[in-house]
Amino acid sequence: MSVDRGLPAAEMFGLDGRVAIVTGASSGLGVAVAETLASAGARVAVVARRRERLAEIAARVDGLAVTCDLSDLDQVGDIVPQVIDGLGPPEIVVNAAGTMFTEERAESEPIDAIRSTMSLNLMAPLVLAQSVFPHMRDVGRGSVINISSISGRVGIPGIPQASYAASKAGLSGLTTELAVQWARHSIRVNTVAPGFFRSEITEPLYTAERAAEYLRRNTPLPMQGTAQDIVGAVLWLAGDAGAYVTGQTIVVDGGWTAR
Ligand SMILES: NC(=O)c1ccc[n+]([C@@H]2O[C@H](COP(=O)([O-])OP(=O)(O)OC[C@H]3O[C@@H](n4cnc5c(N)ncnc54)[C@H](OP(=O)(O)O)[C@@H]3O)[C@@H](O)[C@H]2O)c1
Repeated sequence: MSVDRGLPAAEMFGLDGRVAIVTGASSGLGVAVAETLASAGARVAVVARRRERLAEIAARVDGLAVTCDLSDLDQVGDIVPQVIDGLGPPEIVVNAAGTMFTEERAESEPIDAIRSTMSLNLMAPLVLAQSVFPHMRDVGRGSVINISSISGRVGIPGIPQASYAASKAGLSGLTTELAVQWARHSIRVNTVAPGFFRSEITEPLYTAERAAEYLRRNTPLPMQGTAQDIVGAVLWLAGDAGAYVTGQTIVVDGGWTAR
């Protein structure tokens, strides 16, 4: 019996020539993911609404900018044909676009805000996954990574977010279901659930002293989370290092949910 040898780290985490789609890549985590995947050798399509920002980031990662309002599900189907024309068939999709449309308490959330939250955070990742599926199947492998939140796991006292939490919890259900449906094509589907990290959405939490103290008190690790702290899990799941991982929700939260 031969003894298995460890793969070199560069090979396990390398993404040479693989085409990746990263949504929400005009700011925050999406930008960090696009840059890291590109530095691992991937050819990256960056997707969001802000055209100028996307053009700048696409130039930085030597990739492709695709403008799309993901909350309009009819537009989501236009992404993959553009990526195939510009870069080739996608093997990696990172659904990082997401937001909270309301901070009302649950009993007062407007129905339009609930609909928008579900469309952008939950339905767009499903529609994009549907649209990449035939291409991943033809290539013979794929990795879909949804970006959820600890709000999909636990309630966050003091920050009302019922529809946001429901949409993020929904991503974990979508993940397990797609994982078992698509495993036979070697298409893996996973979710990364970050805890709080500093970005455009959360900036007000870090600048208001009381809110910042709340985050410090509830995060066991003595550091402030940044997008860079989340990206490692995405890189692991994107490539061969994560080849035997599917259907999982990986929490990256500085210990918030471990308490
Ligand atoms: N920051 C945190 O503490 C935290 C914690 C847990 C989970 N998350 C999740 O992590 C992900 C990234 O968040 P972030 O903190 O990096 O936020 P961010 O900096 O605000 O980035 C959000 C991204 O989503 C895009 N986006 C928003 N609405 C869109 C739409 N309708 N169509 C297309 N793109 C849209 C934005 O681009 P455009 O405005 O250009 O469209 C932007 O690129 C989100 O899914 C968020 O829920 C964040």
